[in-house]
Amino acid sequence: MAKEIRAAKLDTEQFISEKVREIRKIVGKGIAINALSGGVDSSVVTALGHRALGDRLKTCFIDNGLMRQNEPKQVKSLFQSLGIPIEIIDARKAFFKALKGLTDPEEKREAITQTFYKKVFGELVVQSGAKYLLQGTILTDIDETVAGIKRQHNVFEQLGIDPQKAFGYKIIEPLVQLRKDGVRKVGAALGLPASQFDRIPFPGPALAARVLGEVTPDRVKIVRKATAIVEKELSEMKVFQYLAILHEDRVTGMRDGKRDFGLQIEIRCWDSVDARSAAATRLPYETLERIAGKIVKDVPGVVSVTYNITPKPPSTIEAV
Ligand code: XMP
Repeated sequence: MAKEIRAAKLDTEQFISEKVREIRKIVGKGIAINALSGGVDSSVVTALGHRALGDRLKTCFIDNGLMRQNEPKQVKSLFQSLGIPIEIIDARKAFFKALKGLTDPEEKREAITQTFYKKVFGELVVQSGAKYLLQGTILTDIDETVAGIKRQHNVFEQLGIDPQKAFGYKIIEPLVQLRKDGVRKVGAALGLPASQFDRIPFPGPALAARVLGEVTPDRVKIVRKATAIVEKELSEMKVFQYLAILHEDRVTGMRDGKRDFGLQIEIRCWDSVDARSAAATRLPYETLERIAGKIVKDVPGVVSVTYNITPKPPSTIEAV
């Protein structure tokens, strides 16, 4: 396995020129494809891949129906302003079909992985003639998968899976020696705006990582609304990550003097350097109250909002 490069020791210019050379060597005169989700890692790998391959890297934004509010449009226009064209692929039906009826966290992750790599990407790769998929796997993804904590949706080789055999294409992972802090440094050096490399992390399985129980379009809609409120209210906080989770259980609540057996949203906000361990931020009580008030007012059906104060470990940052 490639050796870790710590952020403090990272020489970004040297790293970028080495990776550009490597990517060019592997892809040769062919073409590669990559999926941009708008998260930190995929944004950095997109910029790096374009530096190496220019037009020979085709970048797609897979709309899996699990993204945050307005994300597909925002990501596309940001990258277009950087001169990187993005094609949006509408794959919402395929993902919701694969997730139907699933409640087990690992089964949900596996369904997303298979739909993404085999179905959606499998077809895109065949259509485009690309032989390589460039992706932003980082060291933390590999560590946690190998340790059996969570199967990150983008890890194969370390689990004994050969992507060429399983999906019909090779995977190039230029960021595997880095952790999030290193990736951000490379993003800055590649000229990405701080709004992109310094944004809070967002997981590959997207909002499905924040829906306990079955992931349906209606349940994603609820967590998407709650997420938008949490992100807006906490946007000025200098913290690692914040998110909203939709619980599976309902609780008794009351609305307009009547019993309302409603939904529960859990808020998490984390202090962390590299996501390996994390502590709940001591948010001001007024902030928590304001968020809870907005969620019960604006997100239909929610009667309870809680704040997670458990550190990682034993908690993890995402809920699924
Ligand atoms: P966890 O939940 O494992 O998350 O403590 C660690 C960091 O990785 C981000 N992230 C993912 N988390 N599945 C995950 O569970 C993924 O595929 C994934 N991709 C990225 C997560 O948001 C947190 O910052």
